[in-house]
Amino acid sequence: MIKKKANIAVFISGRGTNLKALILRSKKKKCNYKVAYVISNKKNADGLKIAKKNKILTKILSRSFLKTEQKKLAKILINKNIKFICLAGFMKILSPYFINFFKNKIINIHPSLLPKYKGLNTHIRALKAKEKFSGCTIHYVSKKLDSGKIIAKKKVKILKKDSLKKLEKRVLKEENKLYPLVIEKLVRS
Ligand code: GRF
Repeated sequence: MIKKKANIAVFISGRGTNLKALILRSKKKKCNYKVAYVISNKKNADGLKIAKKNKILTKILSRSFLKTEQKKLAKILINKNIKFICLAGFMKILSPYFINFFKNKIINIHPSLLPKYKGLNTHIRALKAKEKFSGCTIHYVSKKLDSGKIIAKKKVKILKKDSLKKLEKRVLKEENKLYPLVIEKLVRS
């Protein structure tokens, strides 16, 4: 059994399936992390309901999320002894200040096989390009969008008759499996 679980913070903007997967795994006795804080830049994000249901502390960011607010947030995260910040569908760009402050501590999950298809609408772009595979990537966050050091990837085969919805669903399923495992591994190392 794990004596003391490491605290992680999860940053979201939307539905929160990755958040849910991280929380579910964290409840296992053998899991070495705990979701201690959920931060959203959208006050109506569905993921916030998941956090509240699990009695996890939440925080809503202001629309502008300027440097002073980021500095304050950094302090709060340090005080809460947060070991890793996991971005899970967080649609706001973090400032270089924040990224530097938590160097190698901010992790993101992206729905493509990076370095291919950085940015938005990854699945439709992969389908249009007639790729054989799509998938997801977990990487460290750096100042350049979706370009930090890659930690793990999971390939998903694109089927002949794939629709956007079907492909997205299969990739998301893999995201939800991979993210908790990678965080456990990072906490262990
Ligand atoms: C995921 O596809 C993730 O890779 C991307 O945004 C989506 C978030 O989904 N960065 P969810 O909110 O975790 O369900």
